[in-house]
Amino acid sequence: MADAQAQVEQVLQQGETDLAAVRGADDLEQFRIKYLGSKGRVNDLMELLRQAPREQKKSLGQSVNTAKSKLSAAYDARKQQLSQDGAAQREAVDVTEPGLQPQIGNRHILMKVIDELVELFGRMGFSVATGPEVEDEFHNFVALNIPESHPARDPLDNFYLAAGRSEGRGQRSGEADASSSLTSDLQSATSSLLLRTQTSTVQIRVMETQKPPIRVVVPGRVYRPDTVDATHLFMFHQLEALVVDRAVTMVDLKSTIMQFVRAYFGPETKVRFRPSFFPFTEPSGEVDVWFEDRGKWIELGGCGMVHPNVLTACNIDPERYSGWAFGFGIERIAMRKYGIHDIRQFIENDVRFLRQF
Ligand code: DAH
Repeated sequence: MADAQAQVEQVLQQGETDLAAVRGADDLEQFRIKYLGSKGRVNDLMELLRQAPREQKKSLGQSVNTAKSKLSAAYDARKQQLSQDGAAQREAVDVTEPGLQPQIGNRHILMKVIDELVELFGRMGFSVATGPEVEDEFHNFVALNIPESHPARDPLDNFYLAAGRSEGRGQRSGEADASSSLTSDLQSATSSLLLRTQTSTVQIRVMETQKPPIRVVVPGRVYRPDTVDATHLFMFHQLEALVVDRAVTMVDLKSTIMQFVRAYFGPETKVRFRPSFFPFTEPSGEVDVWFEDRGKWIELGGCGMVHPNVLTACNIDPERYSGWAFGFGIERIAMRKYGIHDIRQFIENDVRFLRQF
C-alpha cells in the first residue's frame, strides 16, 4: 500500500515538475502524451489500482483520482496561458521592423519642366508672373493690338464662355442684323469672356500693375479648339517672357533666347530666327530649334519687339521705353528636352509614361 501510494505521489510530483519546464505548444503536447495520454503515466496508475488488494482500493483510488485531476487541471491552465502569450506576441508591434514603402507619385513632367524654366530664367534675372485662365477680350485681344476684324477672334478659334458672351459676337462674324446699333452698344458694354488662347494676356496684366523696368516670365495654360493629334491639344502650356526698360533692343531679345536655348538644350543646339507677324510685336519673329532625333526644325514659338500700341494701352510711353517678348510652347520644349514624340502622352496619365521622369 505504502508503495503504491508513494508511486502515485511520485507521478504527481514528477508531472508538476515536467509541466513547469514546458516552454511551448510542442513541450505541452509531449507532456500530455506522457502523463494524460492513453498509454501515459496516469493510466499506468489505473493499472496499479486494478491490481491493488481490495482493502487498499478505496484510499489508493482517491489518491489516483486526485493526482489525475490535479495534473489535468494544471495541464489546462498551462495550455490557456501559452495561448494567451502567443496572442500577445502576435499583437505586439515590432518597431524595429522595416516599414512598407508607401507608393508615392512624382511630379508631372510638365511641372518639372516649368520648374526648370523658371529656375533658369530666374538666374537671368526674371521673376515669375501669373494671370487668370478665364480672360476678357480686352486682355486677350484688344490691348494686344488684335483688332475686332482679326481672324484670331473668330468664335471657331476660341473657347468663348456662354456666361460672358455679348450679343454682338455672331454679328461680327458676318451675320446681318437689323438692330446693329443696339448690338454694338451692348458689345461695348459687355465684354465676352473666353479661355485665354495665349499667355500674352499676362503681359498686359503685368504692365497694368508694374512700371518699367519689367523682367518677367509667365508659365501657364492656354486653350484652343484644335483637333487633337500627335502635335496638337485643345489645351497646352506656354512660357511668356516680357522685358520693358529704357533702350531695350532686338540684341537683348536674340541674345536672351540664344542663351536660354543653349543653357537648356545644350551648347551645340542649333537655333534659327525667322521673320513673322504678330499684332502685338513689331518686328516679329519665330524661333525654331533643330530636333536632332527627328532631323527637322521645330518651332518653339513667336517673339518680337513690343508694339508701341501695346505699351500705350498700358500707359507706358513708347517714346521713353521699349520692350521685347516671346511666347514658347512648353510641351514642345519638354518634347525636345526629353525625347517625347507624342504630345498626347502629357495628358493621358499613363503611369508607365509618367514614372519615367
Ligand atoms: N502669343 C503668341 C501665340 O500664342 C506667341 C507670341 C508671339 C508671344 C510673339 C509673344 C510674342 O510674346 O512676342 O501664338
